Amino acid sequence: MGETKPFTKELTGAELQSKLKSNIHFKSLGGQRSDSLTLTLSDKEWWMNDKIGLFIHWGIYSVIGHGEWAKFNEQIPDDVYRKTAEEWIPKDFSTDAWLETARDLGAKYAVMVTRHHDGFALWDSPASYGSFTSAAIGAHRDYVAEFADSCRRYGLRLGLYYSLMDWRFPGYFDPKGLPENAALMKKQCYGQVEELCSRFRPDILWYDGGWLAHSGSDASAAWFWDPVRLNTIARKYNPKLLINPRSGWEGDFYCDEGSAEIDGNIIPVPWEKNMCICSGKSWGWMADDPVSDFDWLIRMMVNVVCRGGNWLLNIGPDCNGKISPEIRSRIHEIGEWLRISGDSIYGTKAGPFEPVDHIYGSTCRDRTVWLHVLDPAPFRLPPEAENPQNVLPADVLKGNEILSAHLTDGTEVALRKTKGGYRLVLPELPAAPDTIVVLTMKDPVQLLEWGEIHFSGSGKS
Ligand code: GLC
Repeated sequence: MGETKPFTKELTGAELQSKLKSNIHFKSLGGQRSDSLTLTLSDKEWWMNDKIGLFIHWGIYSVIGHGEWAKFNEQIPDDVYRKTAEEWIPKDFSTDAWLETARDLGAKYAVMVTRHHDGFALWDSPASYGSFTSAAIGAHRDYVAEFADSCRRYGLRLGLYYSLMDWRFPGYFDPKGLPENAALMKKQCYGQVEELCSRFRPDILWYDGGWLAHSGSDASAAWFWDPVRLNTIARKYNPKLLINPRSGWEGDFYCDEGSAEIDGNIIPVPWEKNMCICSGKSWGWMADDPVSDFDWLIRMMVNVVCRGGNWLLNIGPDCNGKISPEIRSRIHEIGEWLRISGDSIYGTKAGPFEPVDHIYGSTCRDRTVWLHVLDPAPFRLPPEAENPQNVLPADVLKGNEILSAHLTDGTEVALRKTKGGYRLVLPELPAAPDTIVVLTMKDPVQLLEWGEIHFSGSGKS
């Protein structure tokens, strides 16, 4: 790792967007601050190095097949939904198969939905309202225990997703009008978060659904959840537990959700893009949900990592926990790419060059810089044709120098020092989603300042 110089800065979400001129939109900005919960950058280093995670949405909605919002969208009555849960007995299912896939992807951590907004807990949860759990009904299995065990055996860090809110409580939709019922939901939440943390000791706690009555933001519902108290309980069992920002406390990293393209500058704080491998219409299983294009997915991952983020890729297994052959094969392709090019991803930092949208971005470690060329056209212009797209600016190198440039197969790349920086000339190459040029530097790369940025406001300009 290069040098990191921590700093603390206050920025509103709108300032962030205008400063970075980016379409990266962090969710849940402006959560409560808490000195006692704040971790150091080095506590988060393992996660920032891991880069790639697998996200798994699986629950009763995987039987229905209309997405994880089916219960609400289709107003399925509680008793009908419960019946589906009672009849849900996956065949030949082992969480090991998910971990095989996670490993094949090259993921270093996996995040499982343990309880979505529908309230069905996938573990033996004494705090569950109405014993609505996979251990009490249906298959009588504790899937979270199985998953945690698989993660440990496969050597991946364990992430648990938990939705604070639960549609079964009318108090969720009217917390002020029905405070007693809302309090029951909150009690369930505190009990379940403590169960998850004490029993499974996750590395990552990934909240969702902090907003109340489907409106406002997670941060605006902090008055209700009292997230500093909640997360203080969670941290009792793992003082270095990484927690996302969706509980109304600002969290340890920022989240950009969904399949929107990534552009703009490096964001020098820990952040994660979570998105679906399929169309993104739903996070849970849906038949015939098309798997995204390989090149597009690779470029999305590279665009995230070149801006300092982690990539959490979601899959929705079917009711038997099976991951479709189309998804598995795409994951395998991405994994193959990472097995060859992972050195330019894992354990790197973004920079030193700011990305040029759609053209290139960079990652680095020690004396190596990987230039991820997404569009080689500007680098194939005649050597005398210089423009900001094909000259790497020297000023960001702070006196450091590029000694040589070559492709990952060892082919040398022509490099010429110009007034403003370094002009690279690429040879004709077969089409690829990312052409990686390895730059060897004279000295270890000096990075952008990384540190604590506390965002407030909504993030909308
Ligand atoms: C949104 C959706 C939810 C999904 C989550 C994944 O918050 O409401 O269904 O689980 O995104 O990040």
